[in-house]
Amino acid sequence: MNSVPKVVDNANSDDYHSFWTGLWDNKNTPWDKGDVSPALRELISEKKWQLPSGRGLVPGCGCGYDAMFLASPSLHMTGADISPIAVETANKLRDEKQIPSSFVEFRKLDFFNFDVPEGKYQVAYDYTFFCALHPSMRAKWGERYGEIISSGGHLIALMFPLDKLPENRDVGPPFLLSEEDYHKVLDDNFELIHIDPKCKTHSDRVGLEVITVWRRK
Ligand SMILES: C[S@@+](CC[C@H](N)C(=O)[O-])C[C@H]1O[C@@H](n2cnc3c(N)ncnc32)[C@H](O)[C@@H]1O
Repeated sequence: MNSVPKVVDNANSDDYHSFWTGLWDNKNTPWDKGDVSPALRELISEKKWQLPSGRGLVPGCGCGYDAMFLASPSLHMTGADISPIAVETANKLRDEKQIPSSFVEFRKLDFFNFDVPEGKYQVAYDYTFFCALHPSMRAKWGERYGEIISSGGHLIALMFPLDKLPENRDVGPPFLLSEEDYHKVLDDNFELIHIDPKCKTHSDRVGLEVITVWRRK
């Protein structure tokens, strides 16, 4: 993400929205890997992690690969992004892949401010979203997951970037983080039930990613 300018730290501000929509408008999306995260694919397809059925959410979904991957007849996924271009691109990709819109929908939503459906979400996937937020927003991020995931629901968090920033970056986003940063903001409402430090990773993110699953208490 070497050409991404400094992120602003208040999700309610116009500057925050124009920061992210501006990146999409200018096709400045260096985080986009064009595919499902290898760690998520491994967890679900190889390790056969059993997810609760119901509704799932991927906030900051970008082009939507991970939301499309998780969608199934028993798990209706919503990919949420504040950029209209991201949402349009994800919907187009979904149509190209002929995935029914009853399995997965992409919507322009601000993670911090939208009406949560009755019954909440049973699954959420967070990758390159926590790290995209200014560190001052982390507590709100944790509180929000506590609000929107129902008891017993699973939050899959692919922790990134751990230990060091990706090459050529000396300032966020992405912001450097640690497992402890997740514990600080999730432990009140979630219990860590799975961690795999040896998970598969994108080839240029080796050593920077660890997949975790947190259960809503
Ligand atoms: C670093 S990108 C990651 C995109 C995607 N997860 C991926 O890995 O390709 C962060 C995304 O979060 C979106 N975003 C930022 N703040 C958001 C918010 N409050 N609600 C929803 N989406 C947001 C941005 O528009 C951007 O698409």
